[in-house]
Amino acid sequence: MCGIVGYIGDKLAQPILLNCLSKLEYRGYDSCGIAMLSNGIEVYKDAVRVEALRKTLPQIKGTTGIGHTRWATHGKPSKLNAHPHLDCNGNIAVVHNGIINNFQQLKRQLISEGHNFVSETDTEVMPHLIEKYYDGNLEKAVEAALRDIEGSYAIIVLAANEPKLVVARKDCPLIIGIGDRGNFGASDVPAILDYTNRVIYLEDGDIGVVTKDSIKIRRDGAEVDRKEHKILWSIKDDQKAGYEHFMLKEIHEQPKVIRDTLGEYTREAEPVADLAVMRDSGIESMLMLACGSSYHVAMIGKYIVEELLGIPVRAELASEFGYFNQTLAKTRAIAITQSGETADTIKAIKRLKEVRCKVLAITNVVGSTASRIADQTIYTRAGPEISVAATKSFIAQLMALYWLAMSYSRIDSRRLTDLILELRHLPTKVQQVLDNEDKLMENATFLSGYENVFFIGRGINFPVALEGALKLKEVAYIHSEGYAAGELKHGPFALLGSNTPVIAIVAHDNTYEAMLTNIKEVRARGSPVMALAEEGDEAIEDLADSVVTVPEVDPMFSPVVNTVALQLLAYYTAKKRDCPIDFPRNLAKSVTVE
Ligand code: AGP
Repeated sequence: MCGIVGYIGDKLAQPILLNCLSKLEYRGYDSCGIAMLSNGIEVYKDAVRVEALRKTLPQIKGTTGIGHTRWATHGKPSKLNAHPHLDCNGNIAVVHNGIINNFQQLKRQLISEGHNFVSETDTEVMPHLIEKYYDGNLEKAVEAALRDIEGSYAIIVLAANEPKLVVARKDCPLIIGIGDRGNFGASDVPAILDYTNRVIYLEDGDIGVVTKDSIKIRRDGAEVDRKEHKILWSIKDDQKAGYEHFMLKEIHEQPKVIRDTLGEYTREAEPVADLAVMRDSGIESMLMLACGSSYHVAMIGKYIVEELLGIPVRAELASEFGYFNQTLAKTRAIAITQSGETADTIKAIKRLKEVRCKVLAITNVVGSTASRIADQTIYTRAGPEISVAATKSFIAQLMALYWLAMSYSRIDSRRLTDLILELRHLPTKVQQVLDNEDKLMENATFLSGYENVFFIGRGINFPVALEGALKLKEVAYIHSEGYAAGELKHGPFALLGSNTPVIAIVAHDNTYEAMLTNIKEVRARGSPVMALAEEGDEAIEDLADSVVTVPEVDPMFSPVVNTVALQLLAYYTAKKRDCPIDFPRNLAKSVTVE
């Protein structure tokens, strides 16, 4: 869950590496470092953010170098544990994203062979192994070293006397960027878009040798050809466009994201209905797999698909998948992942493929691992999402599920036509929520003074309560729990009181009356209640301490307007509490380790 980058070319590498690393900090930012080919290999690293490192660095000559921004897994954030890591003589430097499972055993072996280790990391075995096998050919030594490694990795290797970068990947993302008089290795596309939009996606098991004017890729000892891709979205997309934080910018992009994502599916005139993986009429059930916010989308997807297709759907945590037996006959699986790189979700997809269960991936990143290993992929068109907290990707994933379910729906055509019509109005409805920002700021000020909060919802809005709680946790650092409203009385009631506000999501569907009852029960136990309800709902005005209104929509779409409102609530609460909104502590945008 780190970001790695390498550059070899005609230009000074230091500013390029630092600029690319600053674009990779959403992957981890507890420490960083660079290694430059100058007088031999010079390494500069520390437990600081990239900007802080930049300020401490001397001007280093050298047009070849590698860099790393870290999210600690083995060894606390410190100068010694920061990457790059070196071999005994400082002639080989490595940056690594991933986890080496057998590093303890390899380390013991290498120490017995006279190698000295200085860090607590798993990665440090890599340069020592390469040193052990080095006989003047770096890529051969890397190939040999990787044969000893068990685990996941994306690496970039630099050697003091070889003007090249050797790159390799297994279960972690890695691309090669083809530049003008210089080439790159990087964890993902946004890192190098300032310099090139020509990229090659490496496959698991690929080893690349990159010089300033050539790129060779080998696999199992043989040269292989990998397609070059031209990246269409511009660098502008990842700058804040005048907003204070990426999160607020991305929340405000959602009307456009809905149009772009829906537009994608209707542009070809061919309704998305023609998905090969869904073409089998014998589908009897669906399994949706994901992590974090994407899992909450899967839970909402269960309600949508069950209502529109009338088949049973299981929404399961990808990180739990495989710990219990599953009957998957006649089941279609949908893996939902913004980054397309979440290790738990990737592992689940691989498990499903082992048992020949067809997998449809819904992802936001073209060329990501999920899109390459799934049987088919639907891309959401949210554009690059920089803020660690998922917002626009969440809504884009929901759009994909609505369209998928509507394309295969078995409901009465009049109802379907009404739903399609309402779907087209969603961008306007979401804009209305955004226009009601002030009211949410008020409630955020109220909420920012509390350390414990409950979110409650029922039916299709239960997962929305979970998502609201997750957002408040990850950006405002408030301990908040999402709960099925009917469950509160089975325990959490004990925690209610004036210090524990409750946010109730009230939709005008078959859960309405029960939600009113739950609000009364919560108030009776002294908790302040903030309700999220449709405009003009007088009953709620009398019941709740404060009401945030959302525009009236078909209950099927209520998760969209409710989630956007809760995203804004979390954002303004975090702002009130001065939290580092885009880069919350201990988190990263793409979790590429299990
Ligand atoms: C959500 O705000 C978090 N960033 C996190 O829970 C995220 O949803 C989860 O890590 C899954 O990521 P993915 O969609 O890229 O697979």
